[in-house]
Amino acid sequence: MVLASLPEELAQRWTPGTRRFRVGLIGCGRIARQHATSLSAHPAVEIVAVCDVSTAARDQLGARYGVPDAMRFAEYGDLLARAQPDVVHVCTWPDTHAEITAAAAERGIHVYCEKPIALDLQQADAMIAACRRAGVVLGINHHRRGDSRFIRARQLLQEGAIGDLRMLRAEHGGGGRRLMSMSAHLYDLYRYLAGDVAWVNGLVLTNGREATPDDVVDLQYEGLAAGDEVAAQFGFASGAYGFHDGLGHVDVEVVGTRGRMHFWEGGAVRRPWPFGEVRAIWSHATRGAEGGRAAPGAAPWEPLDGVPETELSETQHAHGRSIDRFLRAVDGEGQPLCRGEDGRASIEMAMGLYASHFSGRRVPLPLTPPEHPLASLRRPDTPVKPYVPPAGGAS
Ligand SMILES: NC(=O)c1ccc[n+]([C@@H]2O[C@H](COP(=O)([O-])OP(=O)(O)OC[C@H]3O[C@@H](n4cnc5c(N)ncnc54)[C@H](O)[C@@H]3O)[C@@H](O)[C@H]2O)c1
Repeated sequence: MVLASLPEELAQRWTPGTRRFRVGLIGCGRIARQHATSLSAHPAVEIVAVCDVSTAARDQLGARYGVPDAMRFAEYGDLLARAQPDVVHVCTWPDTHAEITAAAAERGIHVYCEKPIALDLQQADAMIAACRRAGVVLGINHHRRGDSRFIRARQLLQEGAIGDLRMLRAEHGGGGRRLMSMSAHLYDLYRYLAGDVAWVNGLVLTNGREATPDDVVDLQYEGLAAGDEVAAQFGFASGAYGFHDGLGHVDVEVVGTRGRMHFWEGGAVRRPWPFGEVRAIWSHATRGAEGGRAAPGAAPWEPLDGVPETELSETQHAHGRSIDRFLRAVDGEGQPLCRGEDGRASIEMAMGLYASHFSGRRVPLPLTPPEHPLASLRRPDTPVKPYVPPAGGAS
Protein backbone atom coordinates (compact mmCIF):
# COMPACT_ATOMS: atom_id res chain seq x y z
CA MET A 1 0.00 0.00 0.00
CA VAL A 2 1.31 3.46 -0.90
CA LEU A 3 0.85 6.21 1.69
CA ALA A 4 -1.27 9.17 0.57
CA SER A 5 0.76 12.18 -0.53
CA LEU A 6 0.41 15.37 1.50
CA PRO A 7 -1.85 17.15 -1.04
CA GLU A 8 -4.12 14.06 -1.07
CA GLU A 9 -4.24 13.99 2.75
CA LEU A 10 -5.07 17.68 2.91
CA ALA A 11 -7.83 17.35 0.31
CA GLN A 12 -9.37 14.39 2.17
CA ARG A 13 -9.32 16.04 5.60
CA TRP A 14 -10.12 19.67 4.92
CA THR A 15 -13.13 20.05 2.66
CA PRO A 16 -13.67 23.60 1.40
CA GLY A 17 -15.59 25.75 3.85
CA THR A 18 -14.32 23.93 6.95
CA ARG A 19 -12.88 25.89 9.86
CA ARG A 20 -10.07 28.26 9.01
CA PHE A 21 -7.22 28.73 11.48
CA ARG A 22 -5.94 32.27 11.92
CA VAL A 23 -2.19 31.82 12.29
CA GLY A 24 0.48 34.26 13.50
CA LEU A 25 4.18 33.76 12.78
CA ILE A 26 6.60 34.92 15.48
CA GLY A 27 10.11 35.09 14.08
CA CYS A 28 10.40 35.70 10.32
CA GLY A 29 13.82 34.23 9.55
CA ARG A 30 15.04 31.19 7.73
CA ILE A 31 12.77 28.48 9.14
CA ALA A 32 9.73 30.76 9.25
CA ARG A 33 9.91 30.94 5.47
CA GLN A 34 9.49 27.16 5.32
CA HIS A 35 6.57 27.32 7.76
CA ALA A 36 4.96 30.03 5.64
CA THR A 37 5.36 27.93 2.49
CA SER A 38 3.53 25.04 4.16
CA LEU A 39 0.91 27.22 5.84
CA SER A 40 0.05 29.02 2.62
CA ALA A 41 -0.52 25.65 0.91
CA HIS A 42 -2.86 24.47 3.71
CA PRO A 43 -6.55 24.78 2.83
CA ALA A 44 -7.64 25.61 6.39
CA VAL A 45 -5.05 28.27 7.21
CA GLU A 46 -4.94 32.02 6.96
CA ILE A 47 -1.66 33.79 7.88
CA VAL A 48 -3.02 36.83 9.70
CA ALA A 49 0.00 38.37 11.44
CA VAL A 50 3.78 38.31 11.58
CA CYS A 51 6.26 39.46 14.20
CA ASP A 52 10.02 39.97 14.17
CA VAL A 53 12.36 42.32 16.01
CA SER A 54 13.87 42.96 12.57
CA THR A 55 11.73 45.33 10.47
CA ALA A 56 13.19 43.98 7.24
CA ALA A 57 12.43 40.37 8.16
CA ARG A 58 8.81 40.97 9.16
CA ASP A 59 8.13 43.25 6.18
CA GLN A 60 9.61 40.81 3.73
CA LEU A 61 7.58 37.84 4.98
CA GLY A 62 4.47 39.93 5.64
CA ALA A 63 4.48 41.41 2.13
CA ARG A 64 4.99 38.03 0.54
CA TYR A 65 1.90 36.57 2.23
CA GLY A 66 -0.33 39.63 2.03
CA VAL A 67 -0.22 40.48 5.76
CA PRO A 68 -1.25 44.16 6.12
CA ASP A 69 1.17 46.65 7.74
CA ALA A 70 -1.02 46.91 10.84
CA MET A 71 -0.58 43.19 11.46
CA ARG A 72 3.24 43.24 11.30
CA PHE A 73 4.63 43.56 14.81
CA ALA A 74 8.01 44.10 16.47
CA GLU A 75 6.81 42.77 19.86
CA TYR A 76 5.27 39.32 20.16
CA GLY A 77 3.04 40.56 22.99
CA ASP A 78 1.40 43.00 20.54
CA LEU A 79 0.80 40.22 18.03
CA LEU A 80 -0.88 38.06 20.68
CA ALA A 81 -3.02 40.91 22.00
CA ARG A 82 -4.01 42.65 18.78
CA ALA A 83 -4.15 39.89 16.18
CA GLN A 84 -5.59 37.30 18.62
CA PRO A 85 -4.72 34.35 16.37
CA ASP A 86 -5.92 30.78 17.00
CA VAL A 87 -2.37 29.49 16.60
CA VAL A 88 1.14 30.93 16.73
CA HIS A 89 4.22 29.42 15.16
CA VAL A 90 7.25 30.22 17.32
CA CYS A 91 10.16 30.47 14.87
CA THR A 92 12.50 32.60 16.97
CA TRP A 93 15.81 31.69 18.61
CA PRO A 94 15.70 28.97 21.26
CA ASP A 95 16.16 31.26 24.29
CA THR A 96 12.78 32.88 23.57
CA HIS A 97 10.68 29.73 23.03
CA ALA A 98 9.69 29.24 26.68
CA GLU A 99 8.64 32.84 27.31
CA ILE A 100 6.66 33.22 24.07
CA THR A 101 4.94 29.85 24.49
CA ALA A 102 3.81 30.68 28.04
CA ALA A 103 2.49 34.07 26.95
CA ALA A 104 0.53 32.56 24.06
CA ALA A 105 -0.88 29.76 26.23
CA GLU A 106 -2.08 32.28 28.82
CA ARG A 107 -4.17 33.86 26.07
CA GLY A 108 -5.59 30.49 25.00
CA ILE A 109 -3.53 30.42 21.79
CA HIS A 110 -2.22 27.07 20.51
CA VAL A 111 1.55 26.86 19.97
CA TYR A 112 3.57 25.22 17.24
CA CYS A 113 7.18 25.75 18.33
CA GLU A 114 10.45 25.22 16.56
CA LYS A 115 13.05 22.86 17.92
CA PRO A 116 14.92 22.73 20.20
CA ILE A 117 11.93 23.11 22.49
CA ALA A 118 13.98 25.19 24.96
CA LEU A 119 17.40 25.68 26.52
CA ASP A 120 16.89 23.21 29.37
CA LEU A 121 14.41 20.79 30.92
CA GLN A 122 13.04 23.31 33.41
CA GLN A 123 12.01 25.63 30.59
CA ALA A 124 10.54 22.72 28.64
CA ASP A 125 8.54 21.59 31.68
CA ALA A 126 7.20 25.12 32.18
CA MET A 127 6.05 25.24 28.52
CA ILE A 128 4.33 21.87 28.75
CA ALA A 129 2.65 22.83 32.03
CA ALA A 130 1.50 26.23 30.73
CA CYS A 131 -0.12 24.66 27.65
CA ARG A 132 -1.73 21.89 29.68
CA ARG A 133 -3.12 24.41 32.20
CA ALA A 134 -4.55 26.54 29.41
CA GLY A 135 -5.94 23.55 27.50
CA VAL A 136 -4.04 24.48 24.33
CA VAL A 137 -2.05 22.17 22.08
CA LEU A 138 1.74 22.34 22.03
CA GLY A 139 3.55 20.86 19.03
CA ILE A 140 7.28 20.86 18.28
CA ASN A 141 8.65 20.96 14.75
CA HIS A 142 10.81 17.85 14.71
CA HIS A 143 9.56 17.49 11.19
CA ARG A 144 11.06 14.11 10.40
CA ARG A 145 7.97 12.62 12.05
CA GLY A 146 6.02 14.08 9.14
CA ASP A 147 8.39 12.66 6.54
CA SER A 148 6.65 9.85 4.70
CA ARG A 149 9.89 7.90 4.44
CA PHE A 150 10.13 7.63 8.22
CA ILE A 151 6.38 7.10 8.63
CA ARG A 152 6.69 4.15 6.25
CA ALA A 153 9.83 2.90 8.02
CA ARG A 154 8.01 2.90 11.35
CA GLN A 155 5.08 1.03 9.80
CA LEU A 156 7.42 -1.58 8.36
CA LEU A 157 9.17 -1.98 11.71
CA GLN A 158 5.83 -2.47 13.45
CA GLU A 159 4.86 -5.06 10.83
CA GLY A 160 8.13 -6.91 11.48
CA ALA A 161 9.32 -6.43 7.89
CA ILE A 162 12.98 -6.42 8.98
CA GLY A 163 12.47 -8.62 12.04
CA ASP A 164 13.13 -7.23 15.51
CA LEU A 165 14.72 -3.79 15.59
CA ARG A 166 18.19 -4.17 17.07
CA MET A 167 20.23 -1.14 16.13
CA LEU A 168 20.08 2.42 14.85
CA ARG A 169 23.22 4.02 13.57
CA ALA A 170 23.56 7.58 12.39
CA GLU A 171 26.06 10.13 11.33
CA HIS A 172 25.28 13.68 12.21
CA GLY A 173 27.73 16.47 12.84
CA GLY A 174 27.20 16.98 16.57
CA GLY A 175 28.66 18.86 19.47
CA GLY A 176 28.69 22.57 20.19
CA ARG A 177 25.66 24.43 18.89
CA ARG A 178 24.68 21.53 16.69
CA LEU A 179 24.04 19.05 19.49
CA MET A 180 20.98 20.62 21.11
CA SER A 181 19.94 22.54 18.06
CA MET A 182 20.22 19.92 15.35
CA SER A 183 21.15 16.49 16.68
CA ALA A 184 17.95 16.80 18.70
CA HIS A 185 16.24 16.08 15.32
CA LEU A 186 18.14 12.83 15.11
CA TYR A 187 17.33 11.93 18.70
CA ASP A 188 13.66 12.59 18.12
CA LEU A 189 13.80 10.34 15.07
CA TYR A 190 15.47 7.63 17.16
CA ARG A 191 12.63 7.82 19.69
CA TYR A 192 10.05 7.82 16.89
CA LEU A 193 11.49 4.58 15.50
CA ALA A 194 12.69 2.83 18.65
CA GLY A 195 10.80 4.31 21.63
CA ASP A 196 12.07 5.68 24.90
CA VAL A 197 15.74 5.77 25.80
CA ALA A 198 16.96 4.10 29.00
CA TRP A 199 20.60 5.21 29.06
CA VAL A 200 23.32 7.09 27.22
CA ASN A 201 27.08 6.69 27.08
CA GLY A 202 28.80 9.62 25.44
CA LEU A 203 32.08 11.15 24.40
CA VAL A 204 32.43 14.84 23.50
CA LEU A 205 35.46 16.00 21.55
CA THR A 206 37.00 19.38 20.81
CA ASN A 207 39.43 19.45 17.89
CA GLY A 208 39.76 15.69 18.19
CA ARG A 209 40.58 15.57 21.94
CA GLU A 210 38.28 14.94 24.90
CA ALA A 211 36.38 18.07 25.87
CA THR A 212 37.10 19.58 29.30
CA PRO A 213 35.14 22.14 31.35
CA ASP A 214 37.32 24.78 29.66
CA ASP A 215 35.49 23.95 26.45
CA VAL A 216 32.06 24.90 27.83
CA VAL A 217 30.66 27.94 26.03
CA ASP A 218 27.54 30.01 26.40
CA LEU A 219 26.07 30.51 22.95
CA GLN A 220 24.12 33.70 22.40
CA TYR A 221 20.42 32.78 22.03
CA GLU A 222 21.19 29.05 22.17
CA GLY A 223 22.49 28.32 25.67
CA LEU A 224 25.27 26.12 26.98
CA ALA A 225 27.29 23.84 24.73
CA ALA A 226 30.63 22.08 24.55
CA GLY A 227 32.84 20.44 21.94
CA ASP A 228 32.55 20.12 18.20
CA GLU A 229 32.06 16.38 17.72
CA VAL A 230 30.37 13.55 19.62
CA ALA A 231 30.37 9.78 19.73
CA ALA A 232 27.44 8.33 21.66
CA GLN A 233 25.65 5.11 22.34
CA PHE A 234 22.02 4.98 23.46
CA GLY A 235 20.20 2.05 24.99
CA PHE A 236 16.45 1.91 24.34
CA ALA A 237 13.96 0.55 26.86
CA SER A 238 13.09 -2.12 24.26
CA GLY A 239 16.63 -3.54 24.43
CA ALA A 240 17.63 -2.13 21.03
CA TYR A 241 20.55 0.27 20.94
CA GLY A 242 21.73 3.18 18.84
CA PHE A 243 24.95 4.90 17.87
CA HIS A 244 25.49 8.50 16.89
CA ASP A 245 28.78 9.74 15.58
CA GLY A 246 29.63 13.22 14.73
CA LEU A 247 30.05 13.54 10.99
CA GLY A 248 27.60 13.56 8.07
CA HIS A 249 24.03 14.80 8.18
CA VAL A 250 21.27 12.57 9.58
CA ASP A 251 22.41 9.59 7.59
CA VAL A 252 20.57 6.80 9.35
CA GLU A 253 20.78 3.03 9.18
CA VAL A 254 18.10 0.90 10.84
CA VAL A 255 19.10 -2.69 11.46
CA GLY A 256 16.74 -5.52 12.31
CA THR A 257 17.25 -9.22 12.75
CA ARG A 258 15.95 -9.84 9.22
CA GLY A 259 16.86 -6.80 7.18
CA ARG A 260 17.91 -3.19 7.19
CA MET A 261 16.96 0.24 5.96
CA HIS A 262 19.12 3.19 5.03
CA PHE A 263 18.27 6.88 4.82
CA TRP A 264 20.46 9.55 3.38
CA GLU A 265 20.19 13.33 3.65
CA GLY A 266 23.33 14.51 1.95
CA GLY A 267 26.02 13.60 4.44
CA ALA A 268 29.64 14.04 3.60
CA VAL A 269 30.86 10.70 4.81
CA ARG A 270 28.89 8.29 2.70
CA ARG A 271 29.25 10.20 -0.52
CA PRO A 272 29.04 9.25 -3.26
CA TRP A 273 25.66 7.79 -2.34
CA PRO A 274 25.42 4.79 -4.63
CA PHE A 275 21.64 4.77 -5.01
CA GLY A 276 21.00 7.81 -7.23
CA GLU A 277 18.51 10.41 -6.01
CA VAL A 278 16.35 7.95 -4.06
CA ARG A 279 17.06 8.80 -0.44
CA ALA A 280 15.54 5.81 1.32
CA ILE A 281 16.28 2.19 0.62
CA TRP A 282 15.75 -1.09 2.36
CA SER A 283 16.66 -4.69 2.10
CA HIS A 284 14.57 -7.54 3.44
CA ALA A 285 16.91 -10.42 4.09
CA THR A 286 14.57 -13.24 3.19
CA ARG A 287 17.19 -15.78 4.11
CA GLY A 288 18.19 -14.11 7.38
CA ALA A 289 18.59 -16.55 10.24
CA GLU A 290 15.78 -16.60 12.86
CA GLY A 291 16.87 -14.60 15.86
CA GLY A 292 20.25 -13.92 14.34
CA ARG A 293 21.74 -11.32 12.06
CA ALA A 294 20.36 -10.65 8.62
CA ALA A 295 22.57 -12.46 6.16
CA PRO A 296 24.62 -9.82 4.36
CA GLY A 297 23.76 -9.54 0.70
CA ALA A 298 20.82 -11.89 1.07
CA ALA A 299 18.56 -9.48 -0.80
CA PRO A 300 19.40 -6.46 -2.93
CA TRP A 301 18.75 -2.91 -1.78
CA GLU A 302 15.46 -1.51 -3.06
CA PRO A 303 13.82 1.92 -2.87
CA LEU A 304 11.61 2.05 0.20
CA ASP A 305 8.21 0.94 -1.06
CA GLY A 306 4.92 2.55 -0.12
CA VAL A 307 6.26 6.14 -0.18
CA PRO A 308 4.68 8.58 -2.65
CA GLU A 309 7.12 9.16 -5.49
CA THR A 310 7.00 12.92 -4.90
CA GLU A 311 8.07 12.51 -1.27
CA LEU A 312 10.92 10.09 -1.64
CA SER A 313 13.58 12.73 -2.23
CA GLU A 314 12.39 16.07 -0.84
CA THR A 315 11.67 17.31 2.68
CA GLN A 316 9.24 20.26 2.49
CA HIS A 317 6.35 17.78 2.66
CA ALA A 318 7.58 16.75 6.12
CA HIS A 319 7.07 20.27 7.49
CA GLY A 320 3.64 20.46 5.83
CA ARG A 321 2.49 17.14 7.22
CA SER A 322 3.77 17.94 10.74
CA ILE A 323 1.94 21.27 10.66
CA ASP A 324 -1.22 19.60 9.36
CA ARG A 325 -1.23 16.96 12.12
CA PHE A 326 -0.77 19.73 14.67
CA LEU A 327 -3.79 21.57 13.23
CA ARG A 328 -5.82 18.37 13.32
CA ALA A 329 -4.95 18.07 17.02
CA VAL A 330 -6.13 21.66 17.54
CA ASP A 331 -9.30 20.60 15.73
CA GLY A 332 -9.77 17.77 18.26
CA GLU A 333 -8.26 14.90 16.27
CA GLY A 334 -5.46 13.08 18.07
CA GLN A 335 -2.10 14.47 19.13
CA PRO A 336 0.55 16.39 17.22
CA LEU A 337 3.15 14.09 15.66
CA CYS A 338 5.73 15.60 18.01
CA ARG A 339 4.34 16.76 21.36
CA GLY A 340 6.00 19.02 23.89
CA GLU A 341 6.97 15.91 25.85
CA ASP A 342 8.77 14.54 22.78
CA GLY A 343 10.63 17.81 22.25
CA ARG A 344 11.68 17.63 25.89
CA ALA A 345 12.88 14.03 25.55
CA SER A 346 15.11 14.90 22.58
CA ILE A 347 17.03 17.59 24.48
CA GLU A 348 17.21 15.28 27.49
CA MET A 349 19.16 12.81 25.32
CA ALA A 350 21.61 15.56 24.37
CA MET A 351 22.01 16.59 28.00
CA GLY A 352 22.44 12.94 29.02
CA LEU A 353 25.31 12.76 26.55
CA TYR A 354 27.01 15.78 28.17
CA ALA A 355 26.36 14.30 31.63
CA SER A 356 27.92 11.01 30.58
CA HIS A 357 31.01 12.61 29.08
CA PHE A 358 31.72 14.89 32.03
CA SER A 359 31.01 12.20 34.66
CA GLY A 360 32.82 9.43 32.79
CA ARG A 361 29.85 7.13 33.36
CA ARG A 362 26.90 5.62 31.55
CA VAL A 363 23.95 7.82 32.46
CA PRO A 364 20.42 6.49 32.98
CA LEU A 365 17.47 8.53 31.68
CA PRO A 366 15.34 10.29 32.93
CA LEU A 367 18.21 12.62 33.75
CA THR A 368 18.66 12.96 37.51
CA PRO A 369 19.13 15.66 38.62
CA PRO A 370 17.37 17.33 35.68
CA GLU A 371 19.57 20.46 35.67
CA HIS A 372 21.61 21.15 32.54
CA PRO A 373 24.85 19.17 33.10
CA LEU A 374 26.96 22.06 31.79
CA ALA A 375 25.41 24.60 34.19
CA SER A 376 27.60 23.52 37.11
CA LEU A 377 30.70 23.55 34.84
CA ARG A 378 30.14 27.08 33.64
CA ARG A 379 32.64 29.54 35.12
CA PRO A 380 32.36 33.27 35.64
CA ASP A 381 34.73 33.68 32.69
CA THR A 382 32.92 31.19 30.41
CA PRO A 383 32.80 33.01 27.09
CA VAL A 384 29.54 34.04 25.41
CA LYS A 385 29.87 33.29 21.73
CA PRO A 386 27.89 35.60 19.44
CA TYR A 387 25.11 34.08 17.35
CA VAL A 388 26.19 32.97 13.91
CA PRO A 389 23.27 32.14 11.61
CA PRO A 390 23.67 28.60 10.30
CA ALA A 391 24.97 28.43 6.76
CA GLY A 392 21.82 27.35 4.88
CA GLY A 393 21.12 23.75 4.00
CA ALA A 394 18.95 21.24 5.80
CA SER A 395 18.69 20.78 9.55
N1 LIG B 1 13.02 22.34 11.97
C1 LIG B 1 14.07 22.68 11.26
O1 LIG B 1 14.48 21.99 10.33
C2 LIG B 1 14.80 23.97 11.57
C3 LIG B 1 15.69 24.52 10.64
C4 LIG B 1 16.31 25.75 10.95
C5 LIG B 1 16.07 26.37 12.18
N2 LIG B 1 15.22 25.76 13.08
C6 LIG B 1 14.97 26.39 14.40
O2 LIG B 1 14.15 27.55 14.19
C7 LIG B 1 14.50 28.57 15.11
C8 LIG B 1 14.91 29.83 14.33
O3 LIG B 1 16.02 29.52 13.52
P1 LIG B 1 16.30 30.26 12.13
O4 LIG B 1 17.36 29.47 11.44
O5 LIG B 1 15.03 30.55 11.41
O6 LIG B 1 16.96 31.61 12.68
P2 LIG B 1 16.98 33.04 11.97
O7 LIG B 1 18.04 33.83 12.65
O8 LIG B 1 17.03 32.91 10.48
O9 LIG B 1 15.52 33.63 12.31
C9 LIG B 1 15.06 33.87 13.62
C10 LIG B 1 14.28 35.17 13.58
O10 LIG B 1 13.68 35.37 14.87
C11 LIG B 1 13.74 36.75 15.15
N3 LIG B 1 13.61 36.93 16.59
C12 LIG B 1 14.46 36.55 17.56
N4 LIG B 1 13.98 36.83 18.77
C13 LIG B 1 12.77 37.43 18.58
C14 LIG B 1 11.76 37.92 19.45
N5 LIG B 1 11.91 37.91 20.77
N6 LIG B 1 10.65 38.44 18.89
C15 LIG B 1 10.49 38.48 17.55
N7 LIG B 1 11.42 38.01 16.68
C16 LIG B 1 12.53 37.48 17.19
C17 LIG B 1 15.09 37.21 14.58
O11 LIG B 1 15.14 38.60 14.35
C18 LIG B 1 15.16 36.39 13.30
O12 LIG B 1 14.64 37.09 12.16
C19 LIG B 1 15.62 27.98 15.99
O13 LIG B 1 15.07 27.44 17.14
C20 LIG B 1 16.21 26.89 15.11
O14 LIG B 1 16.84 25.86 15.83
C21 LIG B 1 14.58 24.60 12.77
